[in-house]
Amino acid sequence: MSHRSRIIDMVLDGQSSRVVVGPLAALELSRFIPQPPPAYIVDEAVARLQPAWLEQLQAGCDPDRSGTLVLPGGEGVKRIEQLAAIYSWLAGRGVPRDGTLVGIGGGALLDVAGFAAATWQRGIGWVSVPTTLLAMIDAAIGGKTAINVGGLKNQVGAFHPAAGVMVDCGFLLTLPRSGWRDGLAELVKTAVIGDPALFAELESARDGLRALFGATSGAEYEPVPGVLGAMPWRDWVGRAAAVKAEVVGRDFHEQGPRRALNLGHTLGHALEAFTAGTPGALSHGQAVAVGMAVVFRVATERGLCPLTLAVRVIELLDVCGLPTRCPAPPAAELERLLHADKKRRGGRVRWVLPRGLRQLDLEGAVDVPDILRWLD
Ligand SMILES: NC(=O)c1ccc[n+]([C@@H]2O[C@H](COP(=O)([O-])OP(=O)(O)OC[C@H]3O[C@@H](n4cnc5c(N)ncnc54)[C@H](O)[C@@H]3O)[C@@H](O)[C@H]2O)c1
Ligand SMILES: [Zn+2]
Repeated sequence: MSHRSRIIDMVLDGQSSRVVVGPLAALELSRFIPQPPPAYIVDEAVARLQPAWLEQLQAGCDPDRSGTLVLPGGEGVKRIEQLAAIYSWLAGRGVPRDGTLVGIGGGALLDVAGFAAATWQRGIGWVSVPTTLLAMIDAAIGGKTAINVGGLKNQVGAFHPAAGVMVDCGFLLTLPRSGWRDGLAELVKTAVIGDPALFAELESARDGLRALFGATSGAEYEPVPGVLGAMPWRDWVGRAAAVKAEVVGRDFHEQGPRRALNLGHTLGHALEAFTAGTPGALSHGQAVAVGMAVVFRVATERGLCPLTLAVRVIELLDVCGLPTRCPAPPAAELERLLHADKKRRGGRVRWVLPRGLRQLDLEGAVDVPDILRWLD
């Protein structure tokens, strides 16, 4: 495999945004950071589990780490209280209008740090270093930033593309199996919507994927031994990142084509919300996997999509240790949750229905009874 970095350039809202995927891509960080030295916001898991990386990364710009704020990662960081803490810290450091904020962490940390960058002094420089698979191929790319408010996800946010997204798969060494599976759900989705050759490669790797991530592969909350060398992650991450970049580059403000990224998400969001806080809680990736499996079944039933493709997608999700069915919420509750989905426009929920690899119907209509048939 080549050790050259893969570079993906986007122009989002007239601003250039570059994704660099490569070994030590992070070392190229300084190129994106003009003077003055940046302020760093770092995911606590990364600070704890990857101290050497962090040191290397910051060596050029912040040797004594004085400009580093460590915050706990995960969804809880996307709260207004944490945002307020970030603002106080930026104020204490006197971060100026021409300053740069660098976020290093999972998608949640990047969402809140990016929002802080978007709003501090009406917007300062922003560079992100995603450290989970999901963040590398999805959350870090495309300029959306947000926090959760009043129990509603991503309710307050801004578009603020990162000047640089520095992707280094070395960070994935410490990712627990559950985190890998969440990212794999988005990787499968991305291959389906934009890269049939990647989909075929994932399928060819099914035995290896099953051994690493399948239902009986090992503990959910432990890192996955041997994972980095087992699969061509850098290549796959680069290709998935390129698909996301291409889609958002065509439709930054989500008027049309960007909705392809919602494949599996309309039902997925509803199931994630319905199960939250219960013993059977579905993570985002798990809920999206069920959502994808269901829309493939619905599309097949309508003759929109070949049965063979639906079977292949469902098998690939299963191989990755992801669920493809789950207990059905009561019909009225499901109806309510689907209509709460903010992707709803013009009075109806627009579903993304698959017709084939890279072929989608973005205006699909699906009724609750259609869905319930495919849940337990
Ligand atoms: N802005 C967007 O376009 C966009 C797109 C998709 C998702 N998102 C957001 O991304 C978030 C999900 O991101 P996520 O899946 O990265 O989860 P996450 O950010 O919640 O991180 C999951 C856990 O992994 C830890 N972690 C991070 N890096 C690690 C590493 N290298 N090793 C071990 N542990 C590590 C974190 O501390 C956290 O506890 C959601 O809030 C979602 O809304 C945003
Ligand atoms: Zn998602």
